[in-house]
Amino acid sequence: MGRFLAIVIALVVVALLINNWQSERKPTTKSEEDAPVVAPAAKAPATVAPKKLAELNEKVAEAASGAAPKKLAALKETVKESVEAKVQPTAEAASAAKVSKPEPNPQSATKPEPKAESKPKPQPSTNPETVKLGDGALLGGIPGEGDLTVEQIETWIADPKNSVVVEPELPLGLAAGAAGIVGLEENPLTRAKIELGRQLYFDTRLSVDDSISCASCHDPELGYAKNTRFGVGVRKQEGNRNSPVAYNRILSGAQFWDGRAASLEDQAIGPMANPIEMGSTHEVVIQTISKIPGYKKQFEVIFEDGATIENAGKAIASFERTLVTGPAPWDYYQELQNFERAYAADIEDLDALQEEDEELYDEYMELKKASEANPISESAIRGGELFFSDKSGCTACHVGANFTDEKYHNLGVGMDADEPDLGRYEVTKEDVDRGAFKTPTVRNIAFSGPYMHDGSQETLEEVVEWYAKGGHPNPYLSEKVKKLDLTDQDKADLVAFMKEGLTGSFPPVEQGRLPK
Ligand code: HEC
Ligand code: HEC
Repeated sequence: MGRFLAIVIALVVVALLINNWQSERKPTTKSEEDAPVVAPAAKAPATVAPKKLAELNEKVAEAASGAAPKKLAALKETVKESVEAKVQPTAEAASAAKVSKPEPNPQSATKPEPKAESKPKPQPSTNPETVKLGDGALLGGIPGEGDLTVEQIETWIADPKNSVVVEPELPLGLAAGAAGIVGLEENPLTRAKIELGRQLYFDTRLSVDDSISCASCHDPELGYAKNTRFGVGVRKQEGNRNSPVAYNRILSGAQFWDGRAASLEDQAIGPMANPIEMGSTHEVVIQTISKIPGYKKQFEVIFEDGATIENAGKAIASFERTLVTGPAPWDYYQELQNFERAYAADIEDLDALQEEDEELYDEYMELKKASEANPISESAIRGGELFFSDKSGCTACHVGANFTDEKYHNLGVGMDADEPDLGRYEVTKEDVDRGAFKTPTVRNIAFSGPYMHDGSQETLEEVVEWYAKGGHPNPYLSEKVKKLDLTDQDKADLVAFMKEGLTGSFPPVEQGRLPK
């Protein structure tokens, strides 16, 4: 009889725990599944839940078959602890209000395989100030009009505030990828460094004939890319690759279509000495910089070793990391969707909610308002769902907050040429990398045509057709590229998703204000 009672108690406890756990866990699970990046149909990374649950069930069953209530109580504690550990993503959340807000799980939301070293760590410097990027913060230049005078620079840079390390905070959408931020440890952001990088980015004097700056090929007015098939450098020379976008680099490690630069810092100094881009040499660039007193001053204040090409790279990379695009309609839509799913029951009766939990009610109203202010069409929503589905397979590669796995794949683009550009192969010399190129972000992609590493596709419609036919057959074609079964409506929806759903706001950037 006693034993029977124990079993009954055990079962009841298990049922309660499971119930409790599931309801507690819901918001987190939901937001994991639905975070903008892994969104609707992306498979929840085989959540710990079911397995863990089975394990626990087993344990409890074991214990129940003959265990005293005391042991059960202990078990209950363990279960609760482990559940809590799973449910609460942060200490903050643990101490938060009764309903824990659904937080995107950065681990699952960012990259499929976040690298250990890419975790943002607190900067050693004293109390880094957090600055939210995406709306032009830190990109406004030194206040004033016209060319920068040495006096203006000296006054501004003497303000200690401009030398303090700032911690970037990413805007909605990209924020889900914050765990994938790279490069800050090696090269912490400061206002002064970012501003110096901004000046260098827009300065044509870094090229051999004062005609070309970084912005010539990564133009803020052209989606930080260039609307020509290939980049056009000094003396109108053309290379053989299309200019990729220069924003949201904060979430990107290796640079170039083939990833040959290990970091933004390495990348930034390449174009200056590239004969068909800026056509100068690093020596000459540093001589030029050192002759401009405003630059000389800034390098000396910011870097112990003053004006060097590496330091120029650091400054430009810092500027680029700050160049972050704002939320897109899809981000707002996802945010609202996540909320509505997590709190489906609560929002059934809004009047009651307002009375019982005003905070939650206000939050909901805010989300609705933001989504309405950034509308998205039915077609774009269908396109988004399709984008995240197995039917299109797009998120096999365009995954994470910035819609890229940062890996290299062969889609067959340009592989029909007599001497195809072998892309990543040129870096690794591994056969699998023949004709493979880095997955580009598709955020704000509407602005940066023509598309692909060789600029061979004019429109997004063309790109979608390329995928629909399964790319171009060649021995190295990625296994993830297959012929797709898409209707004309599906194709139009995918394009609508990319064009409207993923077009966010661009941060305003000061393009002038260079030192004389
Ligand atoms: C003449 C045009 C041109 C100029 C000038 C130029 N770029 Fe580029 N940029 C390109 C092209 C083309 C690529 C792709 C080359 C490749 O992958 O081989 C590229 C690649 C990049 C990338 C890599 C993006 C990615 O997704 O991997 C970054 C970042 C970048 N450039 C920043 C800069 C900076 C900073 C400057 C100025 C110092 C600059 N570029 C000057 C044309 C240019
Ligand atoms: C196998 C990985 C993979 C899959 C699957 C994939 N892409 Fe891509 N995507 C890439 C790579 C790699 C490139 C660049 C290829 C090149 O230039 O050779 C690219 C380029 C693009 C571009 C052009 C971007 C630019 O800046 O030029 C768009 C748009 C795009 N993909 C959308 C999609 C859509 C829509 C789908 C689903 C139908 C999809 N991709 C599926 C890897 C992938």
